[in-house]
Amino acid sequence: MWTKETKVVILTGAGISAESGIRTFRASDGLWEDHRIDDVATPEGWERNPQLVWEFYQERRRQLFEVEPNPGHIALSKLEDYLDDMLLVTQNVDNLHARAGSKNPVHMHGELEKLRCEECDYVGVMMEEHDLNSAFVSCPECTNAMMRPHIVWFHEMPMRMAEIETALNQCDVFISIGTSGHVYPAAGFLASAKQQGSYCIGINLESPLNFDLFDEFHQGKAGEILPGLIQQWTRTKE
Ligand code: APR
Repeated sequence: MWTKETKVVILTGAGISAESGIRTFRASDGLWEDHRIDDVATPEGWERNPQLVWEFYQERRRQLFEVEPNPGHIALSKLEDYLDDMLLVTQNVDNLHARAGSKNPVHMHGELEKLRCEECDYVGVMMEEHDLNSAFVSCPECTNAMMRPHIVWFHEMPMRMAEIETALNQCDVFISIGTSGHVYPAAGFLASAKQQGSYCIGINLESPLNFDLFDEFHQGKAGEILPGLIQQWTRTKE
């Protein structure tokens, strides 16, 4: 099935980072790290209580120094080295794909490492000690405005959608890893890929919502399953 020319799109979700110690979103109690999602992941929450939202993301930003990429992230970077045309799209806001060697992961829901100015739209990586521990950070470009997390909250537009749609329309294989299939537009990528004729593979701890559309499904932990699968996919063609 695979050659170096096979065009592949991969979508990852919180499950790929779970084995690195980052908690997934949809715990059975409906809370995210003990907060209501509405309070910490919506523009309305930010307007209501910027201090709470800021501290919540500051904690997530500091956590990046305590976690490491796991074998799932590393296997995906090896697959990218092997293939001529692979787009890695992640819903995750952590930096573990890049730290595992992935070259240009598309962070459709933003990045914890970056902050964005609400006034002038300046975006930058701001991970110095004072950035991580301040009660707020002001914009280095227009100095007084307050920076917000560079995160796509509910009711906001995901990033780089045109690029993602182009790749989905052309891919031979679509692989979804560690995502529950609850949040659109990402949850619709499987149906789009399937509709235009891609072979669709799922890897997840539990059956995701859109399970029926997969041509092939591997149930289990991404960090345990992916290294072997990717070795298998790439070995026969070397
Ligand atoms: N390996 C593979 N899958 C796993 C693992 C693992 N080790 N651990 C958990 N999973 C699976 C869970 O079974 C679940 O189906 O990963 C999925 C995680 O689902 P969610 O917590 O809903 O995360 P995700 O789908 O990425 O959420 C999408 O929702 O809150 C928003 O913007 C946020 O990007 C996030 C989006």
